Amino acid sequence: MGYSDVYAAWKQDPEGFWMDAAEAIDWDRKPTRALDDRNAPLYEWFTDGMVNTCWNAVDRHVEAGRGEQAAIIYDSPITDTKATITYSQLKSRVAALAGALRAKGVEKGDRVIIYMPMVPETLDAMLACARIGAVHSVVFGGFAANELAVRIDDAEPKAIIAASCGLEPGRVVPYKPLLDGAIEQSTHKPEFCVIFQREELAADLHPTRDVDFQEFQQGTEPANCLPVEGNHPVYILYTSGTTGQPKGVIRPTAGHLVALNWTMKNVYNVDPGDVFWAASDVGWVVGHSYICYGPLVHGNTTVLFEGKPVGTPDAGTFWRVISEHKVKSFFTAPTAFRAVKREDPKGEYIKKYDLSCLEQIYLAGERADPDTIIWAREKTGLPIIDHWWQTESGYPMVANPMGIEALPIKVGSPSVAMPGYEIHVLDETGRQMKTGELGAIAIKLPLPPGTLPNLWNAEDRFRKSYLNTFPGYYETGDAGMIDEDGYLYIMARTDDVINVAGHRLSTGGMEEVLAAHPDVAECAVIGIADELKGQLPVGFVCLTNGVNRPHEEIVKEVIASVRDRIGPVAAFKLAVVVDRLPKTRSGKILRATMVKIANGEDFKVPATIDDPAILDEIREALRSLGYPK
Ligand code: COA
Ligand code: AMP
Repeated sequence: MGYSDVYAAWKQDPEGFWMDAAEAIDWDRKPTRALDDRNAPLYEWFTDGMVNTCWNAVDRHVEAGRGEQAAIIYDSPITDTKATITYSQLKSRVAALAGALRAKGVEKGDRVIIYMPMVPETLDAMLACARIGAVHSVVFGGFAANELAVRIDDAEPKAIIAASCGLEPGRVVPYKPLLDGAIEQSTHKPEFCVIFQREELAADLHPTRDVDFQEFQQGTEPANCLPVEGNHPVYILYTSGTTGQPKGVIRPTAGHLVALNWTMKNVYNVDPGDVFWAASDVGWVVGHSYICYGPLVHGNTTVLFEGKPVGTPDAGTFWRVISEHKVKSFFTAPTAFRAVKREDPKGEYIKKYDLSCLEQIYLAGERADPDTIIWAREKTGLPIIDHWWQTESGYPMVANPMGIEALPIKVGSPSVAMPGYEIHVLDETGRQMKTGELGAIAIKLPLPPGTLPNLWNAEDRFRKSYLNTFPGYYETGDAGMIDEDGYLYIMARTDDVINVAGHRLSTGGMEEVLAAHPDVAECAVIGIADELKGQLPVGFVCLTNGVNRPHEEIVKEVIASVRDRIGPVAAFKLAVVVDRLPKTRSGKILRATMVKIANGEDFKVPATIDDPAILDEIREALRSLGYPK
C-alpha cells in the first residue's frame, strides 16, 4: 500500500486503523474500543485498556529474546565517554530505581520532576516512573531556577530526581544550586530529592531532604511494571505559550505507545534492531518521543548524545557518531545543520566517515530553510526529510512517510498529512482558505491517539488555547498553506511564540521579566531573523519617568535578569532603550511591524498606527544593534 491508500484507509475507518496499530503493543487488558468521545470536544483513546509503558519499552524485548541487543548507546564527546546498555541491563537498572522510588512512597499518579542532563540515568528515571505509574515531568537543563520553580508549583511533585551538574562546552553547569533555589522559591515542596552525582562536580546533599541516586537503591526490591489505564498520563511536558506560565502538556499512556510505535517504521523507516538517533535533548518533546520512548518501544537501539553539533570537538561529530554506531535514521534540528555548515561549508568532515549505514535524515523543531536542506542533501547524497509537529502532538503531524513510500520532496514543505491528521487552513472566521492561500493551520477533531487530551490543571486554558477559536478544530498556532498536491507549508506562528535554535520560547514570558525591572515602564520583545538560530529575541524597553541612569547599565541588567529568570536557553542578548513603542490607536504594540523593520522587509505602515514617527525611532534603535543585517 502506498501513502494515499494508507491515508485513505485511516480516513475511512479511523478507529479500525488505530485498533490495528494497537496490535503491536503488549496490553495487560486489550481495549475494547479506540476512541472515547463521551466528553467531546475533549477526547481520549484506548481508555479501557490496561498497559504499562516501561513493559513495552524494555521488558517485552527481553522476554522476546532481545535482551542482549543494545537499547541505549551513550556517546558523550563532552566527557569522552561511550557506553552501551543492553535491554537486559536497562531492565535491571530501571527496575532497581523504580523499586527505590516506590520504597520511598512514590505511587501511581504521583508526579516526579526530572532535572537531568543527557546521561543514561535520565532515561532510567523516566522509565522507572513509567514502570510504577508515576507521572514524570522532565525540565530542560538550560532553564533557570525560576522556571523550575514554576513547574514545581504546577506539577506538585512528590519527588525530584536531579543531577549534580550538566556540562556545556567549556563550562560545568551546577544544577544543585538551581534546584535548591527553585525549591526555596516554590510554594509546593517535594518530599525528597534524588541526586545523581556526576564526577565533574559533586553536590552537597541536604541532610533530610536529599538522597544519593546510587545509595538509595541499595537494599530495596526491584519493582515490576504496574499496568495503568489507557488514559493515565505517562508524563507532563511544559511548553511555552503566550505568557510566562508554561503549558503542561499531558501525554496519555496508551495512545502514546500506539502512535510512537507506528511512526518508527512508517515515518522513520527503521525496523526493530536498527539504530536510530535523534540529536536533541530529553528536555524537549523530540527527546521524549525519539530519544527515549519511540525507539525503545519499537525495539530499536537509541543513541543518547551528550554534545553539540560543533565544538565537541568539531563539525564532524555528527558524522563520527553516525558512522561509529551504524545509525540508519538520523533526526536533528535545522539550526544544528546551519552550525555545521558554517564551520564546514564544503562538507570535508563528511568525506572522512563511512556513512553507508545512513539512509535518511529528518529535520524538525523549526522551519527548515531551503539552503540548509539543499546543502545537507548535496553533501550527504541522502533524502533530507523535513517534518512538522509540536509538543502537543508528540509525533509528526505532517511528514514524508519513508517507511510507506518515499514521496517526492518539495524543498520548503514538510510534505503531507499523516494518518490521524486532517489538516485545514482557515481564515479568522473559520472559513476554509483556497489552495495556496495563507491562513491559520487547524486540525479537525478528534486529534489522534497520543496527542494531548488536556493541559495539566488547566482545562479552561486548554479550551481557550486550542479549541475555542475554530469550533470542531484544534488550533496549532502555526500559519501556512496547502498546495495543489496536498503539501503543507509552514510560514509563521500566529501567536507570540518564537523559535530560537529549535527551542520554543515565549516573548510574552520575556516581557514579563523585563517589565519587572524597577526602571522599566513598558517593553516589547520580538523575534528577529537570525542566520544560525532561526530567530533571536530582541527587547525594547521604555524607562519610567525620572530614571536617568546610563542606558547601558539598564540594558545589562535586563539581559542578566532574563538569563537569571528564564535561563541561558532564551539566548536573550540584545536589548535597547527607546522613548516610545509603536502602537495602534487602541494601544496594541505593533510587534509584527517591528519584526519587519528588524529583518529589513518591506511593509505597509498599519492604518491603525497612533504615531508613525515612532517607527523611525525603532529603526534607529535597531540600527544601533546592527539590524537589519
Ligand atoms: N544546560 C545548561 N545550559 C544550556 C543547555 C543545557 N542543557 N543547553 C543550552 N544551554 C545554554 C548554552 O550553553 C548557551 O549558553 P551561553 O549563552 O552561555 O553561550 C545558551 O544556553 C544558548 O544555547 P544554544 O541555543 O544551544 O546555543 P549555542 O550557541 O550554545 O549553540 C547550536 C548553537 C546551534 C549549536 C545549538 O543551538 C544546537 O545544537 N541546537 C540544536 C537544537 C536542538 O536540538 N533542538 C531540539 C529541538 S528538535
Ligand atoms: P515544539 O513544541 O517545541 O516542538 O515547537 C513546535 C513548533 O515549532 C511548531 O508549532 C512550529 O511553529 C515549529 N516547527 C516545528 N517543526 C517545524 C517544521 N518542520 N517547519 C516549520 N516549523 C516547525
